[in-house]
Amino acid sequence: MSREIRTQVAIIGAGPAGLMLSHLLHLAGIRTVILDRRSREQIETTIRAGVLEQNTVDLMVETGVGERLKREGFNHHGFEFRFAGEGRRIDLHGLTGGRSVTVYPQHEVLKDLIAARLEAGADIRFEAADVRIDDIASSPTIRFTDAAGEACALKADFIAGCDGSYGPSRDAMPAGERQDYSRVYPFAWFGILAEAPPSAEELIYARHDRGFALISTRSPGVQRMYFQCDPAENPDQWSEDRIWTELQARVEGGGFRLKEGPIFQKNVVPMRSYVREPMQSGRLFLAGDAAHTVPPTGAKGLNLAVADVFVLARGFERFYRSGATEGLDGYTQTALRRIWRAQHFSWWMTSMLHRFDDASEFDRRRQLAELDLVTSSPSAARTIAENYVGMPLV
Ligand code: FAD
Ligand code: DHB
Repeated sequence: MSREIRTQVAIIGAGPAGLMLSHLLHLAGIRTVILDRRSREQIETTIRAGVLEQNTVDLMVETGVGERLKREGFNHHGFEFRFAGEGRRIDLHGLTGGRSVTVYPQHEVLKDLIAARLEAGADIRFEAADVRIDDIASSPTIRFTDAAGEACALKADFIAGCDGSYGPSRDAMPAGERQDYSRVYPFAWFGILAEAPPSAEELIYARHDRGFALISTRSPGVQRMYFQCDPAENPDQWSEDRIWTELQARVEGGGFRLKEGPIFQKNVVPMRSYVREPMQSGRLFLAGDAAHTVPPTGAKGLNLAVADVFVLARGFERFYRSGATEGLDGYTQTALRRIWRAQHFSWWMTSMLHRFDDASEFDRRRQLAELDLVTSSPSAARTIAENYVGMPLV
């Protein structure tokens, strides 16, 4: 016997997509239950994204979960491309009519959303194991084992699969109805967190013959940096000295030096582009990384997850208000436009800035010419800036 639970929208995954969807639906008077296999502590401490588009910030502020973000986030009006020994600024603010991005870590967004949801009485089941999805065509049911070991059956009008790249939702769609599009890159990112002051006021995306490097920040005392590495790289084989030497080499030029300090976190992030089409089947809807992945160079993943659920929440609202299904039926088509834009931009940034082992001297010079174009032609720079700050939510 399993314990039966009922709700309107059952959400798998308490990441940015699942939590923001639950929050938006709550504001529209729609009940949700969220399941996640991880503990609250794991969710609130995993280090991932850092850059929020203007749209994401505006949505958080407008829906009442942006107080701490406004206080503690760092608003950035530009970033720098470094290549051929010099830095050139992209003026995001000037090129986009006053839009910008905010550096505020993903796990802080999650803390704010979890706190708001729990305060409003939300039903979030952390540490839910063996999540299985049944009957998405007519009577959606999620079977799982709760944190206390009890077997449960969650029955809902709809299921939102917000369970990231490795969750069960993707595979619950019938094989004959779905198509996957993907590209795997032959490199990864080595990410570190260091106790050090910022080396620059804005983010730096660097292209060097040794490979890509990204200089980001977390707080006045903690910096986030990445450098391109082999996907099989073992972080334990990288001493602090070796890491700093590599990073310094990749941003060199004009006397610029990174400020160094103790490194307290190291990880390797794989790089992939992926899209599932369609993003829905019967009463199951995919959102966020469950439906697509972008390489992190464009800083789009978290923002796309939020944009998906903004569209999906509107579809549910219309359905529960009037019974109209147009919003839900059109979800894939509406969401895919932004997703493919972000796919192109993320691929573009990745291919412009990374070292490809099979590249010829021609490819190397073409890459430098492209960086010269996007940092000297105002129209090319504007294309980069508009994509980086993100299209307004529709
Ligand atoms: P997730 O955050 O992956 O959440 C899915 C949730 O589902 C998880 O909590 C997981 O525990 C749960 N789950 C999975 N399987 C199951 C299961 N079987 N049962 C129950 N629950 C399950 N994006 C940006 O926008 N800007 C950036 O600057 C940026 N930088 C990044 C840097 C790094 C190093 C990485 C790794 C990613 C970065 N991203 C960035 C991408 C961003 O982190 C993701 O796109 C984002 O987390 C997607 O949110 P999501 O809610 O769709 O999925
Ligand atoms: C960060 C991550 C990104 O992928 C990016 O493009 C910019 C910043 C970060 O973690 O700070």
